[in-house]
Amino acid sequence: MDFTGKVALVTGASQGIGLSAARMFASRGASLAIIDINSEGLIAAADAINHDFGTQAAYFLCDVSDEASVQSTVRKILLKFGKIDILVNNAGIYRDEAKFFEDTESMQWKRKIDVNILGTLYFTHAVLKGMIENGYGRIINIGSVAGVYGIRGMVDYSMTKGAIIAFTRALAKEVTEKGVLVNCVSPGNIQVGIDLPDLSFMNRSGTPNECAEVICFLASDKASYVAGQNYLVDGCRKKM
Ligand SMILES: NC(=O)c1ccc[n+]([C@@H]2O[C@H](COP(=O)([O-])OP(=O)(O)OC[C@H]3O[C@@H](n4cnc5c(N)ncnc54)[C@H](O)[C@@H]3O)[C@@H](O)[C@H]2O)c1
Repeated sequence: MDFTGKVALVTGASQGIGLSAARMFASRGASLAIIDINSEGLIAAADAINHDFGTQAAYFLCDVSDEASVQSTVRKILLKFGKIDILVNNAGIYRDEAKFFEDTESMQWKRKIDVNILGTLYFTHAVLKGMIENGYGRIINIGSVAGVYGIRGMVDYSMTKGAIIAFTRALAKEVTEKGVLVNCVSPGNIQVGIDLPDLSFMNRSGTPNECAEVICFLASDKASYVAGQNYLVDGCRKKM
């Protein structure tokens, strides 16, 4: 898989799945724009990528839920690189304490809607016209098994990820003919902390790199006949 000459934008790239995807794009020759709300992590990620792969990783501090900031970030990236070929909408929040819906507050759902749903829409909207003009684009949204099956204790989160999967399917029907291929990757339990072996028939959590491989495949020309799909990376999910 070779991304030489391609410009990839990855949101939420300071850590976890986003960082693994960014590193994988860089290791395969892409120029990179990485985005995060955490400035310290972002600078460290860019420094490490540039050091390890000798590529051009530019970082942009941006809250994906702030539309004006997303638009100005995309303008800056276009000024620097001239185009955006690949967008990975990875930034997302899910780490609050599991609670039944009746015990949650609207503030919590609204923040998840802002980041997980609107953040994805803002970035997609900001890059889409350019991709259509170029007749080329790859958009990979990050969903979740929660959006497919629904997870109790994570009702609001499950709802946001279900929305991302539906957004992917509908948008693909508008832009595939224009050369922009939109797909979704829905991770199961990916180990960014503790291993949870009971959730999959592989009896282990997945790794961020195992997710990044599927993201990179869908961003590559190897996946040239794939659009509007949701790829589950969950080791064959056992229970919710
Ligand atoms: N890890 C899993 O098991 C798992 C499972 C299913 C889905 N996912 C999804 O995969 C994606 C990445 O998950 P992860 O485990 O690597 O998460 P993570 O929490 O380790 O990393 C998320 C990154 O996004 C950044 N971020 C959060 N809010 C932001 C905002 N408003 N603007 C910009 N950046 C922001 C964070 O600073 C962080 O660097 C998320 O969308 C998540 O919902 C993860």
